[in-house]
Amino acid sequence: MPGNSFGQFFRVTTWGESHGPALGAVIDGCPPRLPLTEQVIQEALDKRRPGKGGAAETTRKEPDRVEILSGVFEGLTTGTPISLMIRNRDARSRSYDHIKDIFRPGHGDYTYLKRFGIRDYRGGGRSSGRETAARVAAGAVAQLVLDLAGIRVHAYTISLGGVHAEVRDLERVNENRLFCPDTKAAERMEERVVEAKKAGDSLGGIVEIRAEGVPAGLGDPVFDKLDAEIAGAIMSIGAVKGVEIGSGFRAAESTGSKNNDPIRPEGFLSNNAGGILAGISNGEPLVARAAVKPIPSIRIEQDTIDTAGQPVKLSVKGRHDVSAIPRIVPVMKAMMQLVLADALLRRFSMEITDNCKLIKDRDNGRLV
Ligand SMILES: Cc1cc2nc3c(=O)[nH]c(=O)nc-3n(C[C@H](O)[C@H](O)[C@H](O)COP(=O)(O)O)c2cc1C
Repeated sequence: MPGNSFGQFFRVTTWGESHGPALGAVIDGCPPRLPLTEQVIQEALDKRRPGKGGAAETTRKEPDRVEILSGVFEGLTTGTPISLMIRNRDARSRSYDHIKDIFRPGHGDYTYLKRFGIRDYRGGGRSSGRETAARVAAGAVAQLVLDLAGIRVHAYTISLGGVHAEVRDLERVNENRLFCPDTKAAERMEERVVEAKKAGDSLGGIVEIRAEGVPAGLGDPVFDKLDAEIAGAIMSIGAVKGVEIGSGFRAAESTGSKNNDPIRPEGFLSNNAGGILAGISNGEPLVARAAVKPIPSIRIEQDTIDTAGQPVKLSVKGRHDVSAIPRIVPVMKAMMQLVLADALLRRFSMEITDNCKLIKDRDNGRLV
C-alpha cells in the first residue's frame, strides 16, 4: 500500500494498525549527533494519549510508551534510520464485531474495502486516529532539527462545537485539557462535549497552528511550495476537511488594499499571508488553521448498508472520541514540525560537531 511515507530529506514512514500488536515510525534522513531519548518523544506522546482529554475522548486506555529500536547510540542520533515503536496494550477488538460487515457513515470502511478488497474493521486499521501516535513520535524527532534553527511550533484549539476562543493566550494552552488559549471558552467547550456525549453525538472544531522563528527563504517553487506542503500534511490527518493559511478564506472577501501586508524597512506591518509568499517563508510566523469534522462513530442511529449492499440501521458502540479535538492538536503540531524539518534540510545541510553546529546553504555552500 503506497502512501505511508512523508517528506524528501527528512523522510518518515508510519506503520501499524489500531488493533495490531504495535504501530510506529521509521525516520530516514535525520542528521547525526542530535540528542534523542525516549523521554523527549514520550513528552509529546503524552499530550496525544487517549484518556487525557476528559469527556471528549475515547475511554481506551493506552500508555503509549515509545521504544527506540534503532538509530540512536549513547543518547545521540547516528544518522541511520530511527525506528520507533508503540505497542497497543488496550485494544478490545471484540467491540467492533457489530460493524464487521457494515460500513460506518463518515468513516473509511466503505472506501478502504473498495480500494483494497479487504479491510481491518477493528478500529479502522490504518484509517484509525490511532495511527497518528506514530506521527507525533516522529514530530518530536523533527523538533530536534527545528531546535537547530530556533523554530517553535504551537497548536491549539480555537473552536469546538461552535464555541470560539476570543483570546489567544498561548500561556494558557497547556492549562486546560482542550489545549484552548481562552480558558473561559474552554469551559464552555467542555460543556458542549458533555452534552454531545449524552446525546450520543459528536462535535467538530478548528485548530490553529503557529510556527515562530521560521527564517525567510524556506520552501521551494511551484509544486513544492511551503503552503502546499503544509496543506497536504494537515489534510493527511483523518477528520480534517479544510486548511487555510493566514487570512485564508477571509481573503476571498477582502480587498488588495486590506489583505496585502505592507512592507517597511523594519518589516511587514501585518501577516495576512500567514508567513508565506509565493510558497516561500517570509520570516513572519507561519499561521495555518484546520477544520476538523465531527467524529464519524456515533451512538445515534443512522442509515447505512452492509457489505452485501442491504440497508441497515447502525448505532456505533465501542470506545470513541466525541471530538477528534483535543487529541488531534498534537498531531497538527507534529505535521507542521515534519514539514519544516524537511524544508530546512532541503535548503540547508546541518552538521553538528563537538562544539558547534555548521549550517550550510545547499545552493551556494555558504555558511549560515
Ligand atoms: C486523533 C484522532 C482521533 C480519532 N478518533 C476517532 C474515533 O474515536 N472514532 C472515529 O470514528 N473516528 C475517529 N477519528 C476520525 C477518523 O479517523 C476519520 O474520520 C476517518 O479515518 C475518515 O477519514 P476522513 O474523516 O479524513 O474522511 C479520529 C481521528 C483523529 C485524527
